[in-house]
Amino acid sequence: MDTLSFADRVVVVTGAGRGIGRAHALLLAARGAGVVVADVGARVDGCGVEGDTPAADVVAEIEAAGGRAVACRADISTESGATAVVEAAVEEFGRLDAVINNAGIVRTGHFDEVPVEEYRRHLDVHFFGSLFLCRAAWPHLIASGTGRVVNTVSAAMLGNPLMTHYGSSKGAVFALTRNLALEGARHGILVNALSPGAGTRMAENSAAALSPEVMAYMRTQLLPEHVAPVAAYLAHPSCQVTGEVFNAAGGAVSRMAVVTTQGIHDSDLTIETVAARFDDVMALAPGARPDVVPVPQTHTA
Ligand SMILES: NC(=O)c1ccc[n+]([C@@H]2O[C@H](COP(=O)([O-])OP(=O)(O)OC[C@H]3O[C@@H](n4cnc5c(N)ncnc54)[C@H](O)[C@@H]3O)[C@@H](O)[C@H]2O)c1
Repeated sequence: MDTLSFADRVVVVTGAGRGIGRAHALLLAARGAGVVVADVGARVDGCGVEGDTPAADVVAEIEAAGGRAVACRADISTESGATAVVEAAVEEFGRLDAVINNAGIVRTGHFDEVPVEEYRRHLDVHFFGSLFLCRAAWPHLIASGTGRVVNTVSAAMLGNPLMTHYGSSKGAVFALTRNLALEGARHGILVNALSPGAGTRMAENSAAALSPEVMAYMRTQLLPEHVAPVAAYLAHPSCQVTGEVFNAAGGAVSRMAVVTTQGIHDSDLTIETVAARFDDVMALAPGARPDVVPVPQTHTA
């Protein structure tokens, strides 16, 4: 198979100063992309910023390797910050072809003990950050003709101990992905999501929700570099799916499908019928089918 090049593409990666986002940025730049390394330098729980400059550090790393990158230390959880990230792409490279919404924060806690403002903070970074970036980028993605959006969700959206606030905000990103996939299809913009696993700073901070064995495995076996090829493929014009979610960890890649069962139909439905036929409602086979976002065969660029 031919090497997949990004030589003519410009990609924004949020949260690219550390962890998984840094791996995305390094890989894309190594394949020729102009990369906006967007990272405010947030603390892992999103409570303020740290003193270091991770975005500038990653840009220096890319440039030292001969790549093209620009740093943007804006806070993507605000509309003005997300707009500044997109403006950095256009000012530096003159276009924008793909957005990888990767910036994230986490804190653990029982759902009834986590303050409501934590729920809002998680929604602000994960949901509104992704939304604001997509809104600011949208005209440029339409102009690209092969616009791509890669959002970042988490297995926690399906349920994880001590992560109701985090998992719920990722669930909102999942729904954003499905709906933007519908919005984008007529413009040739494909929108997918990645559910990663890697032994990063964030994983360390989630240790309370993970067993010591899982943490040790993540540190040694689940590297950010294992996740980046999946994000890069989803940001490439050759990728033709939309509205899908992919798990990526330690070299394992799989599709996370939403499935509707064949279920039952009874126009005289009663409570007792539901109870009596509940096994049929639940049964996955035969006739189970993944719910997909339809992609029009033709689109306007
Ligand atoms: N590490 C995992 O196993 C795992 C699992 C599931 C999902 N995720 C998701 O993957 C993504 C990357 O996580 P990571 O493990 O690399 O975390 P990380 O903490 O190592 O890196 C996240 C980066 O996002 C930046 N950031 C946070 N808020 C920001 C804001 N408002 N504006 C700009 N930048 C901001 C931080 O400064 C940080 O550099 C996140 O969305 C996370 O929720 C990670």
